[in-house]
Amino acid sequence: MDYTKVIEKLNECLRHEWTGVAQYAQAGFLVSGLWREVYSTVFFDNAQESFGHAKLVGEKITALGGVPTIERKSVKQSNDITEMLNNGLEFESAAVKLYNEALALAEGDRALVVFLEDILKQEQEGVDEFTLILRGHSAAATESKSASKAG
Ligand SMILES: [Fe+2]
Repeated sequence: MDYTKVIEKLNECLRHEWTGVAQYAQAGFLVSGLWREVYSTVFFDNAQESFGHAKLVGEKITALGGVPTIERKSVKQSNDITEMLNNGLEFESAAVKLYNEALALAEGDRALVVFLEDILKQEQEGVDEFTLILRGHSAAATESKSASKAG
């Protein structure tokens, strides 16, 4: 099996994870207002998850004979909590896509497939988490808007 394409794709995954470390940490720093208590933890937990994935993927790239990237993509920043959460959802969805692409290239190496499936499962949980948070957040935001109108 030629691992050149796998290593290339894993480096794309790693670049994405490094982006996640910075993007989620930045959201954790910037989030303010009443939601800060809740969401700074959510964002820092996600930054940590991204770092965990970066560590796994970086080690795998090295094990396969490649050199792990130190690059990242540009970070999406906002002061608006809904936009931060949407950025999170977008980030996790892109991660699901990338690990699926890596999986397609890993066919024939069962251990690598399992390795990637483990990460993919967590990325999908991230998509589900942000989807649910956004659903609740939009409902709460609408409620507090109409409450302040009524008051
Ligand atoms: Fe990840």
